Amino acid sequence: MSSHQLPAPRSAPARPGQAVRVSGLVKEFATGTRALDGVDLEISAGETVVLLGANGSGKSTLLKCLTRLVEPTEGTLHLLGRDVRAAGRAELSGLRREVGVVFQHINLVDQLSVLTNVVHGALGREHSPRTWFAMTARAELREEAMEALGRVGLAHVAGRRAEQLSGGQRQRVAVARMLMQRPRMVLADEPVAALDPRAGRAVMDLLWEIAEERRLTLVCTLHQLPLARDYARRVVALRAGRVELDADIAVLADTELDGLYAAEREDEGLAGDLGTRTAAHRATGAHREAVDA
Ligand SMILES: Nc1ncnc2c1ncn2[C@@H]1O[C@H](COP(=O)(O)OP(=O)(O)OP(=O)(O)O)[C@@H](O)[C@H]1O
Ligand SMILES: [Mg+2]
Repeated sequence: MSSHQLPAPRSAPARPGQAVRVSGLVKEFATGTRALDGVDLEISAGETVVLLGANGSGKSTLLKCLTRLVEPTEGTLHLLGRDVRAAGRAELSGLRREVGVVFQHINLVDQLSVLTNVVHGALGREHSPRTWFAMTARAELREEAMEALGRVGLAHVAGRRAEQLSGGQRQRVAVARMLMQRPRMVLADEPVAALDPRAGRAVMDLLWEIAEERRLTLVCTLHQLPLARDYARRVVALRAGRVELDADIAVLADTELDGLYAAEREDEGLAGDLGTRTAAHRATGAHREAVDA
């Protein structure tokens, strides 16, 4: 391509090897709420990051802004080397195909088979109506979906209807569907919040193992400090739409992490979800670093 065909750069390009580069990101909703208030964040390709912060601190808004599911108000935003804010519709949908998402609310199609739900992960690259059902999908896609199900330990339930699975199994199916997307990056928004601790850890183990195996960049929001302690290397914490801390978890004291939720506990008089959980963890010693420290 000759140089006159290149579009004028709208902001400094992302460095190679950088998965996320966010600078001065602001999101102000029509209601006037400033959910993000100048976020700066850089994440290298292949890095795993846990995003923490009290209710309403802006975690979900930040994840949604990364692929413009929520339209940013100000700032620059590069994802996988592309200028997200400048991207046209086709470039944006291409980018979204490279980003797997896992949410707290597991949106499988209950009436369809587990295998069909997993095959649906390939819809972004195979638009054909044949891909709507496992039975009509190309044989290669069906095989790939079976492999993905095998990877999450659920090959044996491929033929069951999704509604027949437990919450933990459903979230693992959602992970298998995300693998069918062949993503380069995964955004997980409280993927274990709706699960019991054991099922939650199985899903966390999977996400972390898969990220490592496939060298995916993983950004995962969590609400449970003990889980963050066990899985995170790097923690980024938001408070009121700003990055409050960005550090290696090994060097963070519990008081620093706990402090992130102080305002939430005051608001909720310790009766709130997280307040109760952190208090319970402290009481039972389950928050092991508190004992170690
Ligand atoms: N669509 C919206 N319209 C208006 N305000 C919104 C919208 N989505 C989020 N907000 C507000 O933006 C702020 C940040 O919300 P966000 O959901 O990003 O927080 P969060 O850190 O993910 O919280 P939680 O831990 O509860 O999931 C909150 O004050 C929230 O009420
Ligand atoms: Mg959220």
